[in-house]
Amino acid sequence: MSVIILDKEKGQGLLDHKSFELKHNFAQHPMLQLDSLKKLIEELPRHQVTSSSDDLSLKTDFDAILRDKSRSLNFDEIIPSLMTSKSYIAASGIETHPRYKQLCDEITNEAREVYLKNGRKTSIKGATYWLFIASPNAITPFHFDRFSNFIFQIRGSKELAVFPNFQNNIIDQSLCEQYCDGKSVHTPWNDNLDQFAHKYDFKSGDAVHIPFTSGHYVKNGAEDISISISVFFHTEQTQNWSRILRFNHRLRKRGFLPAKIGENKILDAIKAQLFPLVSIYIRIRNRLA
Ligand SMILES: [Fe+2]
Repeated sequence: MSVIILDKEKGQGLLDHKSFELKHNFAQHPMLQLDSLKKLIEELPRHQVTSSSDDLSLKTDFDAILRDKSRSLNFDEIIPSLMTSKSYIAASGIETHPRYKQLCDEITNEAREVYLKNGRKTSIKGATYWLFIASPNAITPFHFDRFSNFIFQIRGSKELAVFPNFQNNIIDQSLCEQYCDGKSVHTPWNDNLDQFAHKYDFKSGDAVHIPFTSGHYVKNGAEDISISISVFFHTEQTQNWSRILRFNHRLRKRGFLPAKIGENKILDAIKAQLFPLVSIYIRIRNRLA
């Protein structure tokens, strides 16, 4: 069964900047059904899988949950109770599993096409895949990611709320700087932020583009478990943003107050160009120290 992202021309001018919805045809793919995915999870290296049976809220530190590899991984208990508990399983690097590599490559090629059909000269780089399986009514806390992504709903429904990126009243850019530079961060939530959300009624066969560092949260539907997969990637644009944010983080650590992305386009361009050289210099200096 070949995978197809439908309406690839949608998203003109929005990619990496604003979320939008697409459709896909691979919700019924045999390798993405619960029994096949249970086998996949059991076969993946332990450090690639995390789970939670806690009742998460929008305020929970999601990064800490994903980083905590000490959590119970007894899938024989978790998977049968998914319908009645508030459990959450996340697995990363699905593309590293030999049986799933071809499927992931096919989805990556489709995602590439979305960029190319929207007039981008260069496409996506370094695609990596996450699988999320969660109970009815489970909540994925408010957080942001250091990549752009497409999320595909395979089974069940959810409310997916996506927020505009680079708005300091939603997520302060200094937090994005830390996270892009490899630090763990807890994205603060308060209910007043909800007015800025674009909410998708997300069901099997739907896909959404979530741009680089856009805040988002998920509330699963009540009727079924939710299965979704996400492909995370960089583009030329997000790589430049990432370099500027990391540059700013290094400056901030040294007591400077750097201009935020968008405040000075010339400075942004200089930082994006300089960051690879600066980080090589710092690495050499640290090695010699
Ligand atoms: Fe996310």
